[in-house]
Amino acid sequence: RKGNFEHFMQKEIHEQPDSLTMTIRDHLKTIRRSRRILFIGCGTSYNAALAARPVVEEHSGIPVTMEIASDLLDRQGPIYREDTAIFVSQSGETAYTLEALEYAKSNGALCVGITNTVGSAIARGTHCGIHLNAGCEIGVASTKAYTSQIAVIVMLALALGVDSLSTQQRRNAIMDVLYNLPSKVRDVLKLDRDMKELAALLMEEQSLLVFGRGYNYATALECALKVKQVSLMHAEGIVAGDMKHGPLALVDETLRIIVIAIRDASLNKQQSVRQQLKARKGRLIVMCTEGDAEFMCLIEHCLQPMINIVPLQLLAYQLTVFRGFNVDQPRNLAKSVTTQ
Ligand code: M6R
Repeated sequence: RKGNFEHFMQKEIHEQPDSLTMTIRDHLKTIRRSRRILFIGCGTSYNAALAARPVVEEHSGIPVTMEIASDLLDRQGPIYREDTAIFVSQSGETAYTLEALEYAKSNGALCVGITNTVGSAIARGTHCGIHLNAGCEIGVASTKAYTSQIAVIVMLALALGVDSLSTQQRRNAIMDVLYNLPSKVRDVLKLDRDMKELAALLMEEQSLLVFGRGYNYATALECALKVKQVSLMHAEGIVAGDMKHGPLALVDETLRIIVIAIRDASLNKQQSVRQQLKARKGRLIVMCTEGDAEFMCLIEHCLQPMINIVPLQLLAYQLTVFRGFNVDQPRNLAKSVTTQ
């Protein structure tokens, strides 16, 4: 709209103090000064932010809170001028995320968009942002956008921590591994045949639990989301530390459970979870690190979620094919959820 101006050209000439401010403003500085970072998203995009949260906390030193966009709106949760709200959305058009953006903006927060769609409503509506550049994602189930979202948030975390000398070595190590990540993902893609065999074994099951923790809590949630969304099998991702607070009651000799027990800081705790599930006769599938020593010097723990989800995506895919459901267009779902 032209407002009080006669022409768009005239309006745009007058807008230059604002547009230049937005262009040259050091958003990273503003984020570094914020009292809190909020990640806001839905579904897989929320899970991606959850996977990267520990790296952001470690490198920025700023408290990070996670918000499912609809829940934030339902509660009208408090957002302040000193907050940075980061909106994660593959499509950049998700209705709840978009409404949460308007809400955060009206509360004065700095709003950052992480989307895979240039020119999307979220990309346009945020103060600044990062384009995933993951390429067009057609399947309703988000897969490649998920790993790219984690990668982008990790890079943002490193940029936020760039002034800290004490973490410089660690930042360099993470960057080195990040550059090698595509070849590591290529390696795990070779597990396709194994995942097909596993899917053949699981295809008649009613239900699947996935236990993860630490860096791989989000991996468990995302695996379960993928399995239920495309293969239409009930699946639940569980933070393993909560096992005794309810989920353990489900475990018997019929229940299939995936335990993510990768060699990382959570390994000992996950081994104990594994033993306890075994003691209840749970039918376990343990996801562990192959050739531990060699693999581990190459992969920083915080980057593992981008590797670990890949075989689980393959599993969800193969399960869906075996069960005869539509892989690319799952029942009742749309790629871009533009209504609430
Ligand atoms: O486009 P968005 O990332 O905002 O979409 C959010 C969710 O609808 C989306 O991530 C959904 O959970 C996935 N399609 C599931 O695979």
